[in-house]
Amino acid sequence: MFWQGTTAGWEGIIVIDGIIYEYLGTGLQSLPPLANVKTASQLAVSFDSQYSNFTIRAGPVDLVASFLSPVIPRDLCRTSIPLSYLQVSFYSTDGQLHDVQLYSDVNAGWISPETNTTLNWNLFEGNSAVNGSGNATSSPSTVYSWVLSQKNQYDFGEQQDFPQWGNFTPGQSENFSFQSGHSLDLRYNYVKRLQLSNVLDSDYRGAQSKEPVFAFAHDFGSTVSGSALYTIGTVQQNVIRFLTSDGLVPLQPWWTECYGDDLFDLINFHYDDFATSQAKGAKFEAQLKADVQAYYSSFPGSLYSNSTPSTLPSYVNSSGSEDGTDQFGHTYILDSSNVYGFLDPTDFNGIAIPDVSEAESYYAIVALSARQVMAAYVLTVPPTLRYSNSSSITSGEPLLFQKEISSNGNMNTVDVIFPALPFYLYANPQMLKFVLNPLFHHQENGFYPNGYSMHDLGTHFPNATGHVEGNDEYMPVEESGNMLLKAYSYYKFTGNTSFLIQHYSKYRQWASYVIQYSLVPEAQLSTDDFAGTLANQTNLAIKGILGLKAMSFISQVVGDLSAAANYSATASSYFTQWEKFAIDPTGTHTILAYQSRGSFGLLYNTYPDKLLNLGIIPQSLHDMQNDWYPKISQIFGVQLDSRHTYTKSDWEMWTAATCAPEARRLFVNSLAHWLNNTSTNLAFWDLFKTVGTGGYPVGGPTFIARPVAGGHYSLLAMLKTGQNSQIGTAPGGFIQNSTQALTESRADYLDISAASVSLQTTKSALISAPTSGLFNVSIHTRAVQ
Ligand SMILES: *[C@@H]1O[C@H](CO)[C@@H](O)[C@H](O)[C@H]1NC(C)=O
Ligand SMILES: *[C@@H]1O[C@H](CO)[C@@H](O)[C@H](O)[C@H]1NC(C)=O
Ligand SMILES: *[C@@H]1O[C@H](CO)[C@@H](O)[C@H](O)[C@H]1NC(C)=O
Ligand SMILES: *[C@@H]1O[C@H](CO)[C@@H](O)[C@H](O)[C@H]1NC(C)=O
Ligand SMILES: *[C@@H]1O[C@H](CO)[C@@H](O)[C@H](O)[C@H]1NC(C)=O
Ligand SMILES: *[C@@H]1O[C@H](CO)[C@@H](O)[C@H](O)[C@H]1NC(C)=O
Ligand SMILES: *[C@@H]1O[C@H](CO)[C@@H](O)[C@H](O)[C@H]1NC(C)=O
Ligand SMILES: *[C@@H]1O[C@H](CO)[C@@H](O)[C@H](O)[C@H]1NC(C)=O
Ligand SMILES: *[C@@H]1O[C@H](CO)[C@@H](O)[C@H](O)[C@H]1NC(C)=O
Ligand SMILES: *[C@@H]1O[C@H](CO)[C@@H](O)[C@H](O)[C@H]1NC(C)=O
Ligand SMILES: *[C@@H]1O[C@H](CO)[C@@H](O)[C@H](O)[C@H]1NC(C)=O
Ligand SMILES: *[C@@H]1O[C@H](CO)[C@@H](O)[C@H](O)[C@H]1NC(C)=O
Repeated sequence: MFWQGTTAGWEGIIVIDGIIYEYLGTGLQSLPPLANVKTASQLAVSFDSQYSNFTIRAGPVDLVASFLSPVIPRDLCRTSIPLSYLQVSFYSTDGQLHDVQLYSDVNAGWISPETNTTLNWNLFEGNSAVNGSGNATSSPSTVYSWVLSQKNQYDFGEQQDFPQWGNFTPGQSENFSFQSGHSLDLRYNYVKRLQLSNVLDSDYRGAQSKEPVFAFAHDFGSTVSGSALYTIGTVQQNVIRFLTSDGLVPLQPWWTECYGDDLFDLINFHYDDFATSQAKGAKFEAQLKADVQAYYSSFPGSLYSNSTPSTLPSYVNSSGSEDGTDQFGHTYILDSSNVYGFLDPTDFNGIAIPDVSEAESYYAIVALSARQVMAAYVLTVPPTLRYSNSSSITSGEPLLFQKEISSNGNMNTVDVIFPALPFYLYANPQMLKFVLNPLFHHQENGFYPNGYSMHDLGTHFPNATGHVEGNDEYMPVEESGNMLLKAYSYYKFTGNTSFLIQHYSKYRQWASYVIQYSLVPEAQLSTDDFAGTLANQTNLAIKGILGLKAMSFISQVVGDLSAAANYSATASSYFTQWEKFAIDPTGTHTILAYQSRGSFGLLYNTYPDKLLNLGIIPQSLHDMQNDWYPKISQIFGVQLDSRHTYTKSDWEMWTAATCAPEARRLFVNSLAHWLNNTSTNLAFWDLFKTVGTGGYPVGGPTFIARPVAGGHYSLLAMLKTGQNSQIGTAPGGFIQNSTQALTESRADYLDISAASVSLQTTKSALISAPTSGLFNVSIHTRAVQ
């Protein structure tokens, strides 16, 4: 299923001693009953950041289908390749030799949704068309590819979120036969004869007309084990249409810079690169596991692992009992043996927050999020500007374009990049610059008339045509605050000052907007725009205030010290006023909007204060919120705010990073519990109900497979800064783990402010800096290894 719901067909069959087992797809179910067809059974499913693996039993043989889309964000060349792998391996479980064949086909649902759009197709041997006359007993080094395209291509067009241009290609090599044709005939004949006829159907038609499928079959002969490798993906040469100061230009994908611009050279490279891609992916995966462990051993939960908590948080109802009715009128019972969250009294078997390892739960969340985040991006070659100069377009540095996915098709949405920020900071902070540069290009070259930051780079991917009339979605405080915080984060994680210097006048412009409008925000949208406009949003105001504090550090770095002092003083004074507006008179929590006493919400925008050590939010505020969240938790987490019972997974994980271990565990384990139990059945959905079956919001918006899942990396981004919810360092500074920084083969920076530190490197150095004041020391080094 494509993420928006239409079907893309992929059939997989393994034949063992003449018995047919279908391990992928449902194609055989349309055929008349056949004596030699048996059912394969699924033994296991597992996933990590790179793979989804399915283990299937087919009589005396077990088969593992491993779908691999490598997540290697520091390798920009490989990251830009739009192709994935399926490796199918099998082995005899009874030690005997068996006659084995593998069959696979794809249908045209991959290139066109279910319409009668006429297609073209061909089979290619290396770079040349085979056209059905050839001989497919190939040399092992040749890759064969089916290539499908729409007959009338429509550059930059979309139909139900499918591109209407480019080539879709499943590829294959070694000892196979091939065929294309009508799905029913072709599969029936294969099942009867166990081989394909090496002919190509030349009746070019649409995906719904005598469903054309494109098949490869392998004969392994008599063997105990074997494997086949397939690759698959849609490749376009012009990927993005970008408005630049030289006019509207098509942009080429970044892989053309690495592997040349020939489709078949790319396919061949990718096919042969399997082992290397796998190894690089395995390295990311091993580091991810190690980092999750490192986070939890540095900042362990009091309830880490299966231990029983010593003190239970309790929600005491008015009659003094720990059981009662929550603020939505749902009765709940606190199960004291299983920590918090509340049991649904209609289902006493369901444990609200299972007492399982928080580290394992967190690993499951981030591993599942990795491919979803990367899937929303396209890396391009920057345009060659002939008539103008732009500090945000640098040859040799890619531009990165994001599609919002499902909520709509907006490009480089500022408040979609923002929630994903922890992933960028953790996985490759340079990606942040690459995705922000196109936004700067538009705003620094007169393509955007408003004084605040633009919301997005274009209404619909892949047209990055901006908003020259300034009529983009109106989220001024939200986006201006986001840009300031993102710019400062980039500096904090790379030490690169040029990004701050280059765009300083934009930052000043946005900061003056934030000064004017953030303390008492007018009725406007925040990033949670599906909830509507609201005046005086507490969480929006605090974002603006933290943005101002970040701005004061930006000014410091740039050397504009008087501005720095002004921004810092303004931020502090705003914060003092904010506290009066924002905290409920009971003193137990912050409210959703200044005028709505008794309301509440996730105060996720305090996370940047912790992450970047901005020094605005006192620990007492975090503590107050930390004590509040468990009291309003539902089975599937803490609702976004008091208006609805739904929540957002990205904001939950941001909030978790501001909490002490008890409440952090509540957030992490309830999200993992939701993943295990939700009634939603599409890719990681970031807006869901915390009650009932954890389903979709009724009549609510559709949030499938969005890159905001990058926000789940909130704790790992904290690990990189050495920050945690308990231990603070001096405002403005953090110390990056030196060993980690230096073992990676890239330029890295240690930013040491207001701290004293000794560094152990291969060339042992001891650096001291004053322990107080606004002094900044930065040491720039490169790993030599
Ligand atoms: C998936 O399979 C690949 C090899 O096919 C293996 O390297 C990887 O560790 C597996 N991952 C999981 C989560 O099973
Ligand atoms: C083979 O396919 C190529 C590319 O589609 C086409 O140009 C050529 O005419 C075909 N040849 C035959 C014999 O069909
Ligand atoms: C197929 O391959 C075989 C073995 O290499 C060769 O003898 C035969 O001529 C080929 N047939 C065609 C049609 O190319
Ligand atoms: C992109 O812009 C072109 C030219 O205006 C238009 O034809 C095309 O439909 C647009 N694509 C999308 C996805 O909106
Ligand atoms: C391909 O077929 C040849 C001849 O049957 C066989 O020797 C070889 O092992 C096969 N290769 C693979 C990868 O199955
Ligand atoms: C597609 O074309 C076939 C054959 O012309 C026709 O039978 C079918 O109804 C068409 N389907 C759609 C969705 O237009
Ligand atoms: C408090 O909990 C007790 C015990 O479950 C229950 O009998 C009582 O109705 C609850 N009171 C309120 C106000 O929810
Ligand atoms: C810092 O950023 C600037 C501007 O993006 C870039 O030109 C420069 O190469 C970067 N420096 C390093 C060391 O990465
Ligand atoms: C917003 O908050 C300010 C300060 O408390 C208040 O004066 C104003 O009336 C509030 N606006 C609305 C729409 O409630
Ligand atoms: C910041 O500078 C502006 C303009 O000079 C001034 O009006 C304002 O009072 C200053 N704010 C603080 C807190 O110093
Ligand atoms: C989710 O299910 C897996 C597999 O059964 C289990 O290992 C894990 O502990 C569960 N997690 C939660 C939070 O229930
Ligand atoms: C939900 O979780 C409980 C354990 O907490 C488990 O018993 C139940 O089977 C799960 N339901 C689904 C649909 O996964």
